[in-house]
Amino acid sequence: MSKGTYYVTTPIYYPSSKLHIGHTYTTVAADAIARYKRVTGYDVMFLTGTDEHGQKIQNVAKEQGLHPKVFLDGVVADIKKLWETMEISYDDFIRTTDEDHKRRVQMIFKTLYEKGDIYKGAYEGLYCTPCESFWTDSQLKDGNCPDCGRPVQVTKEEAYFFKLSKYQDQLLELLENNPDILEPKSRVNEMINNFIKPGLDDLCVSRSTFDWGIPVPIEEGHVIYVWLDALSNYITALGYPEVKDGKFANYWPADVHLVGKEIVRFHTIIWFAILMALDIPVPKKVFGHGWILLEGGKMSKSVGNIVDPVVLIERYGVDALKYFLLREYTFGQDGLFTNEVLLNRINADLANDLGNLVSRTVSMVEKYRDAVVPASGEATAFDEDLIRVATSASELVDKRLDNLDFSGALEEIWKVIRRTNKYIDETMPWVLAKDVADASKLDTVLYHLVEGIRIISVLIQPFLFHTSRKIWQQIKIEEGALTAWDTSFTFGVYPVGTKVEKGEALFPRIDIKAELEALEALSQAGKAPAEAVKEVIPYKPEITIDDFAKVDLRTAKVIAAGAHPSADKLLILTLQVGDEQRQVVSGIAKHYTPEQLVGLDVILVANLKPVKLRGELSQGMILAATSGEVLTLVTADIASGSVVS
Ligand code: MSP
Repeated sequence: MSKGTYYVTTPIYYPSSKLHIGHTYTTVAADAIARYKRVTGYDVMFLTGTDEHGQKIQNVAKEQGLHPKVFLDGVVADIKKLWETMEISYDDFIRTTDEDHKRRVQMIFKTLYEKGDIYKGAYEGLYCTPCESFWTDSQLKDGNCPDCGRPVQVTKEEAYFFKLSKYQDQLLELLENNPDILEPKSRVNEMINNFIKPGLDDLCVSRSTFDWGIPVPIEEGHVIYVWLDALSNYITALGYPEVKDGKFANYWPADVHLVGKEIVRFHTIIWFAILMALDIPVPKKVFGHGWILLEGGKMSKSVGNIVDPVVLIERYGVDALKYFLLREYTFGQDGLFTNEVLLNRINADLANDLGNLVSRTVSMVEKYRDAVVPASGEATAFDEDLIRVATSASELVDKRLDNLDFSGALEEIWKVIRRTNKYIDETMPWVLAKDVADASKLDTVLYHLVEGIRIISVLIQPFLFHTSRKIWQQIKIEEGALTAWDTSFTFGVYPVGTKVEKGEALFPRIDIKAELEALEALSQAGKAPAEAVKEVIPYKPEITIDDFAKVDLRTAKVIAAGAHPSADKLLILTLQVGDEQRQVVSGIAKHYTPEQLVGLDVILVANLKPVKLRGELSQGMILAATSGEVLTLVTADIASGSVVS
């Protein structure tokens, strides 16, 4: 029977194809808690996704000569592939470009508008395009964007506003009376003193200077500005505004939103206020975790350290990387990443503590008892303490995870591992094996060791999925009754008489010096400036002015555009050329949407012999300039039908 529901979310990621291990931190943590809740009997909903709207994305796509959606599809596929490699067990992946999400966000906008919580005004502010943020004068750092340090521009536009100020008192009361709602606690004061108490300004929730966004449902030409769109994902994925039954009724309010510390403000002030305005409960908790940093700064500017999770997984395995991230860093605090810290952690905890324990135990059962696990015999002085430590661990793990203390939870499990290793040193089975009079004691020791390992394998399964399975293979138990979480409270369920079989080392010991050199070399190779291969396109053979005069170029206005029925790359355009209308089929679908084309004044090769392209008549062609992947149509702002010469 289910113990209840558990809803955990990560932020939705800005699409960047090169996610580094810092990015994977939130997701690895969410994955661990989701797996933990599942094995302990909860009905879990784990949501992640991508945040795909805004000017920045539109600009990046344009630089690459791609329509934003085409650009995004590629990047999102890369992100999903990374999560697959990292075995992230999400239940749903939301994209803010999903039609369903867009429709639901529009409904949210409308509800807030009708309630009077969204109103129209004009916005004048200092805008940082890369960060998509407006700033006030006092927020600027040396006159530049406080987040990225780049210059800001004064921007004025008509816009819709959300009445954030209206919720100021309610927010203050919520945070003051429910400090548990935001962790770590220090962030509660930060929100109250730095943001809420100084006064909240209403929030601009629409833009009209770019169009890559969800259209405002009540006025054309405006798109919904990022945070309202992005934050709503946590409820649109549950089917909001349908609240009566289904996922929303089941899972909302979320048990925890896991977010990086820099977006706590958006999640506890803006998001909470939006939820208050919608009259729905706020999440039970927001946890703002720290950042994983490199010496000297940002992760993206890595020097000498490998921060690509795929490379690290190829070398050490997915379990090792996830374990490292969760164990090494305290979840609410910043931490420093270096290759050396990673390798030391793998060797000490995984190869030595856990790997050795399993390999020594299975070897001893093979050597002293023909691989058959004996029934426990005469007690040794050390059994009781081992049993106590092993059977009380799950409760301690539970307490730690209740506070999202992943490192502490793993430490509780490692206490059992270290206690079991110590048990070997205390009982010295190799000495017992020398004297037949100690046979019964040796039986006890071997049984206790195997049962200890079974409990450890049960406890690690949410964090080290493959390792737990590899241990089960060696001690020959199947997933099921003997691996269920509840069996970690009880010592002695391992079936006597089972034949064990040694496998490969769980974590081969790393030669740290040699490996650091290999990683350094790898990082240097990755940084070697790629020889820029500049494509030189030779000129065509010379022609005379008479040759050129044969080409009749005219300006034309695109009055309609649509998809080609049977070719993805082609669009069908209707052109106004003076008094005449023409149909032209053009291979520009990768670069323009039909909506972007309508109204453009393009240049037409008017006397080109008509042809059928994939079954559709094309009466001429339009001119475009290309550079690599980038394509742009040549336009001329003059009456249609004008002669170009
Ligand atoms: N799109 C917004 C979130 C919208 S949620 C409604 C966003 N995206 S992000 O891609 O920039 O960041 C996603 C997550 O990665 C954030 O939680 C962020 O804190 C985390 N990290 C990115 N770099 C990080 C480190 N170096 N270390 C730890 N986490 C960091 O913000």
